[in-house]
Amino acid sequence: MEPDDIDNGYAAMADAAKHAIAYRRGIATAEHTPVASYAEMLAAFAAPTPERGADPRAIIEELATLATPGIRASTGPRFFGWVIGNSHPTGVAADWLATAWGQNAANLHAAPAASAIEAVAADWLLDLLGLPASASVGFVTGATVANFVCLAAARSEVLRRAGWDVEADGLFGAPPITVLIGDDAHATVYSGIKYLGLGAQRVRRVMCDASGRMLADDFARALAEATGPVIAIAQAGQINTGACDPFVEIAPMAREAGAWLHVDGAFGLWAQASLQHRHLTAGVELADSWATDGHKWLQTPYDSGFAIVCDAEAHRRAMAITASYLPPAEGAERDPSAYVPELSRRARGFAAWAMIRQFGRKGIAAMVAEHCAIATHMAERLAAVPGIELVCPVELNQFMVRFGDDDDLTLATVKQVQEDAVAFIGSALWRGRWVMRVSVSSVATTMAEADVTVDAVIGAWERTKAGGI
Ligand SMILES: Cc1ncc(COP(=O)(O)O)c(C=O)c1O
Repeated sequence: MEPDDIDNGYAAMADAAKHAIAYRRGIATAEHTPVASYAEMLAAFAAPTPERGADPRAIIEELATLATPGIRASTGPRFFGWVIGNSHPTGVAADWLATAWGQNAANLHAAPAASAIEAVAADWLLDLLGLPASASVGFVTGATVANFVCLAAARSEVLRRAGWDVEADGLFGAPPITVLIGDDAHATVYSGIKYLGLGAQRVRRVMCDASGRMLADDFARALAEATGPVIAIAQAGQINTGACDPFVEIAPMAREAGAWLHVDGAFGLWAQASLQHRHLTAGVELADSWATDGHKWLQTPYDSGFAIVCDAEAHRRAMAITASYLPPAEGAERDPSAYVPELSRRARGFAAWAMIRQFGRKGIAAMVAEHCAIATHMAERLAAVPGIELVCPVELNQFMVRFGDDDDLTLATVKQVQEDAVAFIGSALWRGRWVMRVSVSSVATTMAEADVTVDAVIGAWERTKAGGI
C-alpha cells in the first residue's frame, strides 16, 4: 500500500463515521420511508469486476450513496417488524474499535484483550440472566449458532453417559438420541438439529397450548416413552407470542429422567434480567444449556449471540480446536474459540461488554419492562377498535392482531401499513391464520412512538376496510 493510500484509508474511516452518525441522527426523527427493493439495489451495485483499485474515500462515498436507499430503518423508533434490537451507538462504536484493532479472537495469545473482555462479559451475562456462575459462554453470531453449539454439547454429554464418544466415533452406530421439542419451537432450532445429524424429522414434538407453551403433561408422556439418551429443547419467548415454557414443571422432570434440557431464549431469556418479569421464566436456570442473543434485547450490533452451557467440559469437548501452532490456554485462562465452532472470528466481546456497561443491570431491567409495557399498551389500544382482534394475551414484548377475522383483510392492512411507511410491521401465519405480528425490542422505541404507530395501523385498517380488497 502506498503512503497516500494509507492516509486516504484513515480518512475513509473518518468519512464512514461521519456517514454513520448522520444516518443515525436522521433515522431518529425521520419517517420510515419505503426502502428500495432488492432488485433496485442489485441494479445500483451491478458493475463489471473492477480491473484496478480505487481511492479509499471514493469507495466509501460510493458505498454510502448506493446503499442508503436500500437500508431498512430497523434502528428507527417505529420498527416492529422482527425482533431486531437497535444496534446501539455505544455497541457500534465498540465494534468499530474491534474491527479497527483487527483482533482475531481465536486465541488468547493472538488477542489478549479480546479474550479477557469475553471472560468478563461472560460473567456479567450469567449474573444478569440469573444462570449458574460456573456455566461456560461461547460468543457466537446469533441464537441459531448458539442453539447449535448448545445442542452439540448436549449430544456429546448424553452420548458420553451412554458410553459413546461422538467426537471421536461420530454418530454411526451410536445409541439413538431421542429429541423432544415444543411444537411451536423456532425454525432455527431445527437447523442445529440438522447440522448435528439428529434429524429434523425424527424429533418427538411436544404439544403446546394456544400461546405456544409446551404442555407439561405431554412433555412427561414424551419423556416416559423415550428410550436411551434424551435431549429436550424448550424455549423462553415464542417468536409470535412471547410465551415461555413451564420450566418449573419440565426442568425437574428432565433432570429426573437424565435428559439434557436446552432452552432457546433468543430474546425471552432476557426476562430474567427484569425482576418484574422473572416469574415468566421461573425455573429456567435449572436447564443444562441456554441460547440467547445480544443483537436483540441487549441492543448490540449484529452479530452477537451467546451459547451458555452448564457443563463447561461438555461445551469444550464439543467445540475446542487444538493444534501445535496454537498455544493452549492454561489454568484459569479462557480461549474464546474453545466454546464456538470457528477458530478465526470477530472480537464480539468488546461490543457485548460495552452494551452491558452502557445500560447496567438497572438499565437492562428497565428496558425489558418498558418494551413489555409498550407491547401491552399497543395491543390494548388496537384490540379496542372494532374488527381488530388480539390473537393471544400479551406475555412479553410480542403480540399478534388480526383484522376483520379475515386473512385477506389482515394481509391488506399489513401491506397498507408498510406502504404508508409511518412504521414497519410484518405478518405471520399462526395456527393457520394470517396475523399482523408486532415485536417491541428496540431501545429507540418509546410509548409516544408506539402511539404514533397505533394511530397509523388504525388508519390503515379503516382505509382497508372501507376500500375493500
Ligand atoms: C426464539 C428464537 N430462536 C432463535 C432465533 C434465531 O436467532 P438469530 O437470528 O439471532 O440466529 C430467533 C430469531 O428471531 C428467535 O426469536
